[in-house]
Amino acid sequence: MDKIIIEGGTPLVGQVTISGAKNAVLPVLAATLLTQGENEILEVPRVRDVKTMVDLVQDLGAEVDQHNGSRIVLDTSGVHKTEARYDLVSTMRASCLVLGPLLARLGEARVSLPGGCAIGARPIDLHIKGLEALGAVIKLEEGYIHGTAKKLKGAHHYFDLVTVTGTMNVMMAATLAEGETVLENCAREPEVSFLAQVLNRSGAKIEGAGSDTITIQGVTSLRPIECSIFPDRIEAATYMIAGAITGGEVEVLNCLPDELEPIVLKLREAGVDVAVNERSVKVRSHSPLTPVNIRTHPYPGFPTDVQAQFMALMVLAQGQSVITETVFENRFMHVAELRRMGAEILIDGHTAIVRGIKRLSGAPVMATDLRASASLVLAGLAAKGQTLISRVYHIDRGYQEMEKKLSKLGASIRRVK
Ligand code: UD1
Repeated sequence: MDKIIIEGGTPLVGQVTISGAKNAVLPVLAATLLTQGENEILEVPRVRDVKTMVDLVQDLGAEVDQHNGSRIVLDTSGVHKTEARYDLVSTMRASCLVLGPLLARLGEARVSLPGGCAIGARPIDLHIKGLEALGAVIKLEEGYIHGTAKKLKGAHHYFDLVTVTGTMNVMMAATLAEGETVLENCAREPEVSFLAQVLNRSGAKIEGAGSDTITIQGVTSLRPIECSIFPDRIEAATYMIAGAITGGEVEVLNCLPDELEPIVLKLREAGVDVAVNERSVKVRSHSPLTPVNIRTHPYPGFPTDVQAQFMALMVLAQGQSVITETVFENRFMHVAELRRMGAEILIDGHTAIVRGIKRLSGAPVMATDLRASASLVLAGLAAKGQTLISRVYHIDRGYQEMEKKLSKLGASIRRVK
């Protein structure tokens, strides 16, 4: 298994270009199952989760052609299988995004039930409830969710909790349902609005995506998708924090600053200079960091996917900060590893109390999930001495060429087999 070795302590300086958003391309790949024909997706990030979703759609009968990595053409005319295999679904929870499209297009779906994961139980009961509201009959059999629906029918449905992929799954299914669907308490993430725009360009009739009420008028068929994926806001935030934590000067190119507002404002509150341009941000940090409190929330709140990285930064602030995780029940797996590097963090339920220290020290640590791994890389970049990170396959799930991008900024980082 690969490991990453970092010699910390070098301020990062230079420019880094952000890749397409992982969490935007995964639902679009699932949405191609709603269409019949040649779909074309550009600016696809080369990360492992995307490969998993491509393998899944291919296994369901799509023909896939990948060009230079970042352009994917998928012909979905031959999609006929209704079963998403356990070995594909078990490695990535977002695989459950094929449930809605398969039910809508083929009237049946058998998708392996995702297990728990490092950041919590993460059930998919809300996806199921939404699809049942559209008339699907869903049973749990032998570890699989088995759904059938002769014809989905529009409905008025309220999500008990804000769920990103749950909103997407039910929205996708409703595009081919009969009549009108109104979804309340929807996720407002940019990835949801993007998916709606992409589907509308293919003939769907979706209004209100980006707000908490989405209305969908069902249509009988959708044309193939053509789209270009927008830049990854979580990757952008990670490199902004990399500049700040090393006391460097990093310009993050190809990002959408409006979507990064909570990060920009919280970094400024911590005493970091952040200059915002139309499609880039520049982060400069020379003075000691001020502690700030954060509380994660669904969009437009502070993203849970940046909590671990921001905590690494707060470990080096001058004083105490309080970080509260409200989205997932167990998303402090990075804390034990950061402590191995000298961090002083107390956990009390959903809250982490971070007492700033002057310097982290390099140590062998273990990546436990995607964003936790990113926080260990950030801590390693700032630490004195060598940090050895194992289980880096978690990083490869969502960051394209992370070592390459960081090396270009002057980091001493390498991968060993
Ligand atoms: C998506 C993102 C993930 C991000 C998360 C929250 C993708 C592929 N992944 O994950 O990176 O961290 O949003 O911004 O886009 N829940 C239930 N029942 C359900 C569904 C969710 O109880 O049926 C709970 C979850 O356990 C969690 C909360 O709702 O506590 C929010 O989860 P959700 O928004 O669904 O996360 P994902 O869509 O899986």
